[in-house]
Amino acid sequence: MKTLTGFALALLPLSAWAASTEFQDIERGRYISVLGDCAACHTVDDDQPLAGGVPLETPFGTLIAPNITPDAATGLGRWNFEDFKAAMTEGVGRGGYHLYPAMPYPSYTLMEERDIRDLWAYLQTVTPVENDVDANQLPFPFSVRQVMLGWNLLNFDGRRFEPDPEQSDEINRGAYLVESLGHCGTCHTPRNFMGGEGGDKFSGASIEGWYAPNITPNRHVGIGNWSEEELVEYLQTGGNRYAFASGPMADEVHHSSQHWTEDDLYAVARYLLSGAGVDAADWDREPPEPLAEDNAQVRAGSHIYFDRCSGCHTPNGGGEPGIFPQLASNALLNSANTDSLIRVVLAGSRPVATDAKPTAPAMPAFAWNLSDDDVANVLTFVRNSWGNAAPAVSASEVADMRETLESE
Ligand code: HEC
Ligand code: HEC
Ligand code: HEC
Repeated sequence: MKTLTGFALALLPLSAWAASTEFQDIERGRYISVLGDCAACHTVDDDQPLAGGVPLETPFGTLIAPNITPDAATGLGRWNFEDFKAAMTEGVGRGGYHLYPAMPYPSYTLMEERDIRDLWAYLQTVTPVENDVDANQLPFPFSVRQVMLGWNLLNFDGRRFEPDPEQSDEINRGAYLVESLGHCGTCHTPRNFMGGEGGDKFSGASIEGWYAPNITPNRHVGIGNWSEEELVEYLQTGGNRYAFASGPMADEVHHSSQHWTEDDLYAVARYLLSGAGVDAADWDREPPEPLAEDNAQVRAGSHIYFDRCSGCHTPNGGGEPGIFPQLASNALLNSANTDSLIRVVLAGSRPVATDAKPTAPAMPAFAWNLSDDDVANVLTFVRNSWGNAAPAVSASEVADMRETLESE
């Protein structure tokens, strides 16, 4: 971000000073839009930023993110700041209609006033695009926006961000970024039956056929083994020695966190790894015992592993830093939810390319040459080797994922 030094400011005439403050607000607002990842949902085509059109699957049906460029007829051209603030903090659109929480207003409501203002200043400068989007594609009765009145009563408290005086400024900055603009919990916190954030915070959740893993400091199923540097590396480059970001997290890294400042990324890492935001009782649990080596699935799986997998992931599961992820002591492998694991083995995966790491290696697909039993066995083996411990994977879970992948 560009900032003017005090020396440069002293040389500027007054009118230029006014203009430069405005420029700074707009630049700041642009960065807020990156932190909030507005583009992930509101941009389809990078040549027409924020013109809307991204379809979002929700438990109730499909919503399409609308046009938020300043176009008068089809965008926010007729909105004023108060209208915008109500959308961001109360989930209410211009004229009083209720927005669905697929728009992450339950997180954005924590935004500071200045951030909302600068974001609004930036949105005025985006090229207006005429693109009429009908956001609401939900079936009746969910299509009736008044339904959201009841949802808000039960799931939305409209609270503002309160820094914790016991914590450092850096941890408070991290808390603000994670809870508010970064809306990490919308994917990483389990949902209740109404689609509101429900279960233990950051303990992992299914989203669009992927699993957004536990990001608490738990050492077994969470990111407690990661150093701050490793977490920053993941958010900045899309990968570290344990994991590469794919699916919805690849989008998050691509549009958002790879562009965050180093200070902001470290603040996030310090906050998440300190466990300040979560109840220790929810994450500080003893790991289970691994399945025995003579378990039939573990034994069958070890043959497949040494035949098909160890060439890249190495015989001791250590991987190759920056190329092939380490499977040893890997939280994703220990997770109760196996959606992402099965998906990766069946369909393969190409991790996100970032400015920092433009090309990344790929994981090959095994759907065509491993049976449901083979995939279940090899995953059961890796889930119970080299420090990992987790329940066996069943062939029927693999069959279900095969079906999901075929329908995509
Ligand atoms: C996870 C997806 C997602 C993200 C991220 C997101 N939005 Fe939205 N947004 C939506 C959806 C979906 C709607 C439509 C909701 C509805 O109509 O009920 C919406 C609606 C809106 C509206 C109301 C527009 C209207 O015409 O009613 C505004 C304003 C808005 N978003 C601004 C933003 C800004 C600014 C950001 C970034 C800070 C952002 N959104 C990030 C999904 C998203
Ligand atoms: C749109 C949904 C979404 C959002 C928003 C999101 N994540 Fe993720 N995240 C995921 C998914 C899905 C994965 C699993 C990716 C994979 O399997 O490659 C993931 C993976 C991760 C991982 C790797 C964990 C591991 O054990 O491999 C970390 C760390 C992470 N996210 C942190 C964050 C942070 C911090 C934020 C907020 C700034 C965030 N995520 C926002 C969906 C999301
Ligand atoms: C040609 C090299 C190669 C082979 C062979 C290979 N992998 Fe991978 N694997 C990768 C790469 C590269 C990634 C990272 C890709 C990504 O996450 O997008 C990966 C990712 C994974 C992950 C996800 C790890 C995480 O934390 O995100 C699992 C699990 C995995 N592989 C298991 C296996 C299994 C089981 C086999 C054998 C059936 C196998 N791999 C064979 C290269 C390989």
